[in-house]
Order: sequence, then C-alpha cells, then structure tokens
Amino acid sequence: MQWKKVLTSMKPYKPGRSIEEVTESYGLEKVVKLASNENPYGCASSVSEFLQSSSMPFEIYPDGHATTLRKKLAEKHGVGEESILFGNGSDEIITIICRALLDDKAHTIMPTPSFSQYSHNAKIEGAEITEVPLVDGLHNLNAFLSAITERTAIIWICNPNNPTGNLIPHNELINFLEKVPKNILVVLDEAYFEYVTDPNHVDSIKLLERFPNILVLRTFSKAYGLASFRIGYAVGSSAIITELNKIRNPFNNNSLALAVAGKALEDEGFIEKCRELNHIQRERFKSFAAEKGIHMYDSQTNFVLLEVPIDADEATEFLLQHGYIVRSGNALGTPGHIRITIGTEGQNTGLLKAFDHLLKEKGI
Ligand SMILES: Cc1ncc(COP(=O)(O)O)c(C=O)c1O
Repeated sequence: MQWKKVLTSMKPYKPGRSIEEVTESYGLEKVVKLASNENPYGCASSVSEFLQSSSMPFEIYPDGHATTLRKKLAEKHGVGEESILFGNGSDEIITIICRALLDDKAHTIMPTPSFSQYSHNAKIEGAEITEVPLVDGLHNLNAFLSAITERTAIIWICNPNNPTGNLIPHNELINFLEKVPKNILVVLDEAYFEYVTDPNHVDSIKLLERFPNILVLRTFSKAYGLASFRIGYAVGSSAIITELNKIRNPFNNNSLALAVAGKALEDEGFIEKCRELNHIQRERFKSFAAEKGIHMYDSQTNFVLLEVPIDADEATEFLLQHGYIVRSGNALGTPGHIRITIGTEGQNTGLLKAFDHLLKEKGI
C-alpha cells in the first residue's frame, strides 16, 4: 500500500480506560471515571425524558442541514444561520479545518501542551507545525505572533486550554487578534466555555464582526453532558463556513443527536447549575492543593491538573487501584501532573481521600 509517509510515525488516538475494563481488571465493585472531562451530573432531565419517549423514523437519513438545531443555535448566539457548521463532535470540525487549509506547503501554529487533535490532523495533511510552549499554563501569544510566516494558514488557540485549564485574559486575546494578519484563520477552541466563571471573560462569538478571521468551536460533549452523541459546532463568518461545509460529510450528525442537542438548549438552567456546582468543587481542589503544598494550574474548566509526588503513570495506577480513573500527565505532555475531571461532591471526596492516601504513603 502507498500509505502517506507520515503515518509510519503516528499512533491511533488512545482514549482513557473505560469503567468496564477497569472494574474487570482490578476486581473493583465501583469505579468512577474522572478522565475525559465529561459532565458528572449527566445531562438535563428534560433530555433524558425526551430520549425515553421519542420515536423516530430510523430508516430516514438525518437532516443534513440540521435545520432545527441550526435555528436554535443561531438565535442563542445572535448570528446568522449560515454562520454555523456542525461536526460529529468538535473533533470532526478540527479535521475539516485541516483538510480545508493545510497541505505540505502550509504552516500552522499551536500551543503545547494542548489538545492533541490539532497536531494530529495537521501532521496527516503534511503541514509544517510550530508548537509554542505554554508559560505557566498560559498561551505565549507574543511567541505565536513571532512564529507567523507567509505560509501560516491556521493558528490554534485552546481557551481555556486542555490540559492546563488556564483561560487567556480577554484583553490579551484582543491585542493578539488585532495583530494577526486577516488572511490567517484563528481557531478559538472553546470546548469548556460553559464552565468559565471569570467575570471578565467575554463571549468570543461577539468578536466575530470585529475579527472575521476567527472561528469559534463549541461542543455538546462537556457541560451539556452529551459526549456520546458526538455533536460539536463552529461559529464563523458565512464565507469561512461555506468553504468548510464543502468538506463536511453529508449526514455527519445522526437524527437522535440533532434532536437531543436541540432539547438540551431549552434547559440553560441545567448549564448554569452545572457551572455553579463545578465552580464550588473546583475551589475545593484549589484548597486541597494549597493545604498540601502541591501545584495546581489555575483552571476555568471542569478539570484540574494537579502535581503528583511520584511518576504520573504510577500515581494514575495508584488511583486506579482505588477505583478512580484519571489521566496521567505523561500522556498529555505534562509529566509530574495528573489531570482529574471535577466530579460530584461525593466523587471528589473519595478521589481526594485516595489522593491524600497517596501523599501520606510518600510522606507528604
Ligand atoms: C479542547 C478540546 N477541544 C475539542 C474536544 C473534542 O470534543 P468533542 O469532539 O467531543 O466535541 C475536546 C475533548 O476533550 C477538548 O478537550
């Protein structure tokens, strides 16, 4: 086979371990997954009720235009319906963006460590990649500007960033956007937008008129609690969306996912409640880290990146044995740390107890 050469140096995406697998291999009665930043409160009860009662003509293709959901989201964000692109998760939108703009002559800039799919997809397209190291968990936007060349096609901004959780101060983002040439697409991946509680944060969709070269990514996988349905979307100028739409597969969101996402939008109270509960629990992690004298990045998301006193893989293994699945920083480009999804109050109590146990074993 004439595989793309780059594939020889690549590996398939390795997801976190599943509850079933861990339960079986460790012989545990109860396992809590705090590894993929899903919503520990599930989804809005109206969505669950809808799922139990809804019936659909499963033999019919989905609405490839996502008409109803498109209308609802356009209204929610105050944008035109032609400004939205739907993806099978925002993962698919990242793939579409790379297919549309990158080839072996193009250049792209991204933070590191950050969400793996930017570099994964850029590599497949053969683009030259400049990875700009974070500084204390934050994007080094000046270094991004210095890295721009005539061939730069995409700049990726993960805000708040995964895996550190840090949010770029709004004025810094604006200063940066003012300096980026308008022929470069700036992707603002905001998968964790709904969890941000910083009062100075501004909805970047409101920046679209001022900066028509930005594309904002959002998802139903996190705060909306619908990760299994695979539905994410991009909001941008109609000119950008039109080009990206040429690459999108015809029926990339299934009928149930479209219906469920639309239903979820009717219960913004659920999102507010989750944001509030998550904030309270995030503060708990902050106090724990301060009390124990361990480093924790300043998160505005539903996960925290915590320092560990031993190798991150070993710490992850220790917590697995206690029934908690978390992500080792070794796999995320943050050795010496583990990433923990903020769970419910009860889940966090158990996790912090196990973590404390780990610290005590190490004499901390
Ligand atoms: C920063 C970021 N972007 C995008 C995604 C992909 O989300 P999804 O494809 O579920 O919409 C994730 C998932 O973890 C993420 O952390």
